[in-house]
Amino acid sequence: MTSTTPWDSVRAIHFSNNQLTLLDQRVLPQQEQYIHYTDVNEVARAITDMVVRGAPAIGITAAYGIVLAAQAQAQQASLTLESAFDVLAKSRPTAVNLFWALEKMELALKQVEAKSIPEQIQHLLKTAEDIHQQDILDNQTMGKLGAQLIEANSQIYTHCNTGSLATGGFGTALGVIRAAVAENKVDQVYAGETRPWLQGARLTAWELMRDGINVKLSTEGAAGQLLRQGNIKWVIVGSDRITANGDVANKIGTYNLAVLAKHHGVKFMVVAPSSTFDLAMAHGDDIPIEDRPQHEVTQIKGLDIAPEKCEAINPSFDVTPNALIDAIICEKGILTPPYTENIAKLLSSEGNT
Ligand code: MRU
Repeated sequence: MTSTTPWDSVRAIHFSNNQLTLLDQRVLPQQEQYIHYTDVNEVARAITDMVVRGAPAIGITAAYGIVLAAQAQAQQASLTLESAFDVLAKSRPTAVNLFWALEKMELALKQVEAKSIPEQIQHLLKTAEDIHQQDILDNQTMGKLGAQLIEANSQIYTHCNTGSLATGGFGTALGVIRAAVAENKVDQVYAGETRPWLQGARLTAWELMRDGINVKLSTEGAAGQLLRQGNIKWVIVGSDRITANGDVANKIGTYNLAVLAKHHGVKFMVVAPSSTFDLAMAHGDDIPIEDRPQHEVTQIKGLDIAPEKCEAINPSFDVTPNALIDAIICEKGILTPPYTENIAKLLSSEGNT
């Protein structure tokens, strides 16, 4: 696996000795605990329960889940993986990287269906490892591309966690921030806490502090005041699905930031690999938005923060319209408006595979 660097020391997904190991993101930053998996149903549950989260990381994990399902059938005459594909596809709805990775694994299986079971398993493992490795390389490429747009002495605001924890490694939005830090262009990173799951507070602050990157935590309510002060040059976020017209689904609260950024003349960047683009979907209104349990809003760590029986809404993602986005960075290049034309030119000519 692509080695880590001083700015990039965290890896959340490992596969070796026929088992998948995930860093449990539910208990960070208090505990750094790893869970081992050999059963695909448990892997699907790990995705639903957010042991692992972040669009690219979900896709990579699902690919390894298919390998585990195949390994469990090593003694059989033929592989029957339909239920494994099915349970993984139902684990979370919004991140298209999950379905992209499952399609890659399905195609890989078809390529070797006439071969022996050990050869089929070997090919599935190689495909999953390639997906994992390529994600890290793509993130490093996007980092360099995005960093070109960052001026010296910049302050940057980011949302959710888009780093090594959310990907194979290096990160998408945090990858651009890492690359800009390495080029000495960043004075200060602000991480929005990201209610209700607190990915910004629990994960981004942990990951950046561990890598020695200067981060300050901000409540989401403080973002308007921060952006109004005029020192922040870019808001940089990741994405779970980008439609053909450049509308962007990302962690709930992203849309608020994009509106604030537009109002205050702060530039807004989205960073996502081509596996996050869903060219079959015309615009963001069609993106399925995951509704998560109400207790994530009414409780923190099992402690009630609202009256008993208080109802809550918990949409996990929102959609930012393309008009609010100054640049979308993908590993194939930098996209700027008009997005429908430019996305089609950059991505669909080669087929988004
Ligand atoms: O619910 P999560 O934590 O899986 O949501 C993650 C995000 O919204 C990220 O911003 C997105 O997946 C891009 S991560 C590289």
